[in-house]
Amino acid sequence: MLSQHRSLIVTSALPYANGPLHLGHLVEYIQSDIWCRYQKMHRHQCVHVCADDAHGTAIMLRAKRERMEPSVFLHQVLREHKADFAGFHIDFDYYYSTHTPDNRYLCHMIYERNRDSGHITRRVISQAYDPEAGQFLPDRFIQGTCPKCGTAEQYGDHCEACGAMYNPTELVNPVSVISGATPVTRESEHLFFTLSDFTESLKTWCNTQGHLQPEVANKLQEWFDAGLADWDISRDEPYYGFLIPGEKNKYFYVWVDAPIGYIASFRKYCQSLGLDDKPHWQPGSDTELYHFIGKDIITFHALFWPALLEGAGMRKPTAIFAHGFLTVNGRKMSKSRGTFIRASAYLRHLNPEYLRYYFATRLTSGLEDIDLNFADFAQRINSDLVGKVVNIASRCAGFIHKRCYSQLSAVCAEPELYQEFADARHEICDYYERREYAKAMRCIMALADRANHYIDRTKPWVLAKQEDNEIALQKVCSVGLNLFRLLIFYLKPVLPVMTREAEIFLDTHFFDWSDCDKPLTRHTIKPFKPLLTRVEPAAIEAMLADANANETGPGRIL
Ligand code: MSP
Ligand code: ZN
Repeated sequence: MLSQHRSLIVTSALPYANGPLHLGHLVEYIQSDIWCRYQKMHRHQCVHVCADDAHGTAIMLRAKRERMEPSVFLHQVLREHKADFAGFHIDFDYYYSTHTPDNRYLCHMIYERNRDSGHITRRVISQAYDPEAGQFLPDRFIQGTCPKCGTAEQYGDHCEACGAMYNPTELVNPVSVISGATPVTRESEHLFFTLSDFTESLKTWCNTQGHLQPEVANKLQEWFDAGLADWDISRDEPYYGFLIPGEKNKYFYVWVDAPIGYIASFRKYCQSLGLDDKPHWQPGSDTELYHFIGKDIITFHALFWPALLEGAGMRKPTAIFAHGFLTVNGRKMSKSRGTFIRASAYLRHLNPEYLRYYFATRLTSGLEDIDLNFADFAQRINSDLVGKVVNIASRCAGFIHKRCYSQLSAVCAEPELYQEFADARHEICDYYERREYAKAMRCIMALADRANHYIDRTKPWVLAKQEDNEIALQKVCSVGLNLFRLLIFYLKPVLPVMTREAEIFLDTHFFDWSDCDKPLTRHTIKPFKPLLTRVEPAAIEAMLADANANETGPGRIL
């Protein structure tokens, strides 16, 4: 375990400001929030930043459909996103937006440095254009019949029925999703970032152990083998984004200014504390930089982003942590199947910590998809958290209060058992550090089983019936509560609220890992209140019904 105090900047991918958060998004934010809370428990300097990703065609059209000024629409989405994050106890140190003067400034700076070092070229390309809407069409805004299998209403870049990939020009009977018009082909000059200038250093960076997960590094090898192509970084108007300095009516493609939003958000955080953010972005900086992302946005983070940073004379990320996608009951989330669940719908019916724990039991350091199965969800919470962890406290607290003046015994009656529980923290910390949360949770639950066995074996309820046996009763229940206290510390990154309440009950507070070494003795505890209630199947039903009733919203892309 690393013990000296480290300095970390942690980012989570910036959610698009074109709609509400859903449970799929929460996989990532819960994963990163657990990691940051864990780092903070080591008292490392860990700053978790995020922001709304405010630019692009989809957001522009969405605001138009809502008949709102983009800035008004963005403001409303930002408020909703922040409320959802707060609801799930996602504790960002700064949450910003990419549509801000700071981000524009940084975007210009990074672009101009790259341009002045010769990494930007220009050439004319032909693209699909909607003559009615008067705008160029991104691939996703063109629909037509798949040229391979003939399925209608497929998108411009791939067919959902047969999986074929193609160019929008190959679609049969293409139409613009915006106006229904038949797209025409038009020419326009675009700016390109010459990614191939960075081939060698990217290869070295990608293959240096620790920067990328092995499966990600393997995937990127395919890109290197094919040769890195220039990246189109400009868009024509109408577009919602930042104008490119020195060009006429050209906008930065949203994926240029989006990751720069990480820097802008961190900068805002530093400013709020009167600190200088610049040293952290210099090459050779001691600050560790981690990006949590979904597996769909790997190339942006592992190729374009480090290259843009290098071209601007800035440091590269320490590591990129990609995760898999959420499936619900084994299938992709879908509105028609009623499994597209908004974060807000969940929060109206179920405790957010249930989901935090459930995801923790499923998360690994790999890229596998994560399934949310509601029967399994209820069973996990009820059997692990309620049946095992909270149960330890409820089995012991009453006797200590009623029979022992609310006081724990003067010495720990099971020092060896206690020490085994305390030593387990090394293994558990190692799992947290490596994002092997499922393993951490299994380890904690195995300890919870042992604590319950100890209580089964020592039978405080029998001792309680014997006269004048308070000392024995107090010893046994004090051991139980001390073991419980360690489990609470270990669960802290995952369950911030339940563990805080447990700490209030035990009148203890986690300050440092060395707090684990000493059991609480001759210590008075506070009244016990149930810390977590069982998941009721009716609440899940109600949540799913609500999620569907409210899901009248946008179609597949807008
Ligand atoms: N705006 C970009 C990210 C820019 S980062 C500089 C974006 N936004 S998103 O809203 O589509 O997704 C935000 C994050 O949530 C991404 O990491 C994405 O992979 C993740 N997820 C979105 N849907 C998801 C699931 N169904 N399951 C798991 N993660 C998902 O991409
Ligand atoms: Zn097809």
